[in-house]
Amino acid sequence: MNTVSGFSKFTKAQKINFLAENYFADADSTIELLKSFWHPNEESQRTFDEFSENTLTNFFFPYGVVPNLVLNEKNYCVPMVIEESSVVAAAANASNFWFKRGGVSAEVLSIEKVGQVHLIYKGPKEDLFNYFEKIKPTLLQAVEPLVENMKVRGGGILDVYLKDLSEIEEGLFQIFMTFDTCDAMGANFINSILELVARLFKEKSEDLKLEIIMSILSNYTPNCLVRAELCCPISDLEDPRLGMSALEFAKRFEYAVKISKADIFRATTHNKGIMNGIDSVIMATGNDFRAIEASVHAYAARSGKYQGLTEISLKDNLFHYTLEIPLALGTIGGLTSLHPLAKLSLNMLGNPSAKDLMKISASIGLLQNFSAIRSLITSGIQKGHMKMHLLNILNHMGATEEERELAKEFFRTRVISFKAVQEFLAGQRTLQ
Ligand code: MEV
Repeated sequence: MNTVSGFSKFTKAQKINFLAENYFADADSTIELLKSFWHPNEESQRTFDEFSENTLTNFFFPYGVVPNLVLNEKNYCVPMVIEESSVVAAAANASNFWFKRGGVSAEVLSIEKVGQVHLIYKGPKEDLFNYFEKIKPTLLQAVEPLVENMKVRGGGILDVYLKDLSEIEEGLFQIFMTFDTCDAMGANFINSILELVARLFKEKSEDLKLEIIMSILSNYTPNCLVRAELCCPISDLEDPRLGMSALEFAKRFEYAVKISKADIFRATTHNKGIMNGIDSVIMATGNDFRAIEASVHAYAARSGKYQGLTEISLKDNLFHYTLEIPLALGTIGGLTSLHPLAKLSLNMLGNPSAKDLMKISASIGLLQNFSAIRSLITSGIQKGHMKMHLLNILNHMGATEEERELAKEFFRTRVISFKAVQEFLAGQRTLQ
């Protein structure tokens, strides 16, 4: 295999040729396949190319919607980008179920974002703390030009203090800063401020021997919290499709939540289901799903034990189900205005504020989880999953439109498996 140097300087055509010729047996068809996913509009393609480095083509994901999300008595049609076949169907199902039961309510509890300057100082602690208090006004004044615009929008720096971590690692301290970045994700805003603070803190420290190690925002945002809630009389959960009474359903549901609190193996899957919904909305609106994932799972372990993120109460004959989750989202800047479909998604949601997007995303996460638990404790998950997966299997086997319709009808009442679909298609094909 050829190694390559200066790859990033190649033209796009050179990059594609290099890849096709060095990694594939059939270079021509590889090139053709890559090009077939280019956007027909050259300018649009350039926009996508410039999101990242060494871009060759686009990788398609399905873009779907969940209509009828009633949230705080307002109706939303929510965009979701996800490849897993049953996720949108499950969210839409739960959304419809709760639409008839008052919908979801949600509120933002806090909106604080965090940044840190990590430094090493091995002299007397009091000297460092005294220096910090003395220099703090100068630091805040120096970053003022960077903060000005954010202040006009109602945000800015919330707090700045020195944290002593020297018990954990000798000489380790950090300048801990908190921010309100309004409707922006705020990564550039925070990192620019941190780097300026770090530089000045070092420059003006004179004979204090301190060393700046790094300056970076933290993706852990336990004080950027939103809570979504589902609540109705237990009797209103009555539904013939459950195959049990509403009370029995509620009690089984409570056990499912208790299991997610008790056991890390179940907790991880429980939370994965929540994130199926949240990540899909985050992708559709051009937000950073890696940042959100990192924060959410750290938050799930905040007690020292990783647990399911939802809470349930069955008091006073009420089914009350909540999700409290850190979601540091933005609705301006970054990809939100550059990606035409992210822009369209935000438009579809009525150009929400970051707080509104937090509420919408948390609501979809809670509904997604409700739908998963409802299936798990009643019919089992495979019935719905495999129904959606049937289309993937049929596509994989190159089924015609007629075969797809016949298969859908045939498997309506039968267990779906790869082998069963294969046999069904073979049977159909020998009939012809
Ligand atoms: C599958 O992507 C998600 C579920 O496993 C979630 C859960 O078990 O709660 C269905």
